[in-house]
Amino acid sequence: MKIAIIGYGGMGSYHASLLKNYAKTSPEYPLELAGIYDIDPARAEAAGKDGIRAYASAEEIWKDKTVGAVLIATPNDIHAEYVKAASEAGKNIICEKPIALTEKQAEEMYGYAEKAGVVFEVHQNRRWDDDFLTVKNIYDHAEHIGEVYRIESRVMGGNGIPGDWRKKEAQGGGMMLDWGVHLIDQMLQMVKSPILSLYCEYSYIYGEEVDDGCRLSVKFENGVEYLVVVATDCFRSLPRWQAYGTEGTATVQDWDLSGGMTRVLVKHDDNIAGIRAGNGFTRTMAPRVGNTVEQKTLPVVHAEPFAFYKNFAAACAGKEERRIKKEEVLRVFRVMEAAARSARENIVIKERI
Ligand SMILES: NC(=O)c1ccc[n+]([C@@H]2O[C@H](COP(=O)([O-])OP(=O)(O)OC[C@H]3O[C@@H](n4cnc5c(N)ncnc54)[C@H](O)[C@@H]3O)[C@@H](O)[C@H]2O)c1
Repeated sequence: MKIAIIGYGGMGSYHASLLKNYAKTSPEYPLELAGIYDIDPARAEAAGKDGIRAYASAEEIWKDKTVGAVLIATPNDIHAEYVKAASEAGKNIICEKPIALTEKQAEEMYGYAEKAGVVFEVHQNRRWDDDFLTVKNIYDHAEHIGEVYRIESRVMGGNGIPGDWRKKEAQGGGMMLDWGVHLIDQMLQMVKSPILSLYCEYSYIYGEEVDDGCRLSVKFENGVEYLVVVATDCFRSLPRWQAYGTEGTATVQDWDLSGGMTRVLVKHDDNIAGIRAGNGFTRTMAPRVGNTVEQKTLPVVHAEPFAFYKNFAAACAGKEERRIKKEEVLRVFRVMEAAARSARENIVIKERI
């Protein structure tokens, strides 16, 4: 199947290079890049230099019968109109996250695809991040650090909000829609339990009209507490992940999968030696020593290469179910909207989501 990319910016060109590599694996369900369309002539020119055909308009793609699918990688506010037009043209669709600006708009977009009978998939690629899969492995299997009861998931950059449209509310800018959408999707894939309450704070360090960071605390019905942090003002990062279990603690330091697990062997150490701490003395905060704990390596999980494209192409061929379900995508929007309300009104939202 041939696929055309609409929006040849950062992510569109990243997809183009990934698709080239996917093709090299001689997949059972191929996706061959037909070309791109970008409203900016400079980006069309860049595609030409990359040896990629630049369509003169989106209409040209709709009319091209050799194109079976499109991948929409434009700014967030321009996804819906392309999903509608692509559906009407009978093209299968991959749309970048966040597909929409609201749950209502996302639901309408699914409606266009369902009416046209085309496959509509959201690029929630971070479900295949090795760091996430490794923490999910720890969460799913109590033999690592026992029952996990608290998780902290952080991404911390020091570059502010990049580019232009990401700073504008009307274009779906802000870090909750940009990164929150990934971390919340991961959270809901990990903790399979209803949310009982949440509290969120947005930051506006750089004085933009949209949030340049957010901090979301969630309580689940199964007792798990989950913290999501997105920062763009941080030059010294905290770990990407920290998971607390009844038998130990796990840290995934970064996307490079550095970190480890400390398993507790003696829960209550009666022989804690106190330490000097600042201008005082403490036993409570003294680090565990000796054979009361053991250090273990992370139970690393690697994602299947190109799993997202493979599944999309197989779904288009009617051979597999789409991996990213409509109900899952809409639930992420419900959480983001509740978080925005919490941040705006400075309240805890007590709703089952
Ligand atoms: N899944 C991920 O990991 C990931 C990572 C980065 C970005 N994204 C998503 O990809 C999308 C694009 O982000 P980006 O960082 O590539 O932005 P970008 O600004 O780098 O690129 C957007 C491109 O779209 C083009 N464009 C704008 N309006 C258009 C229109 N009407 N028709 C055709 N082209 C148009 C622009 O000229 C630009 O080249 C966003 O939805 C973003 O959230 C996803």
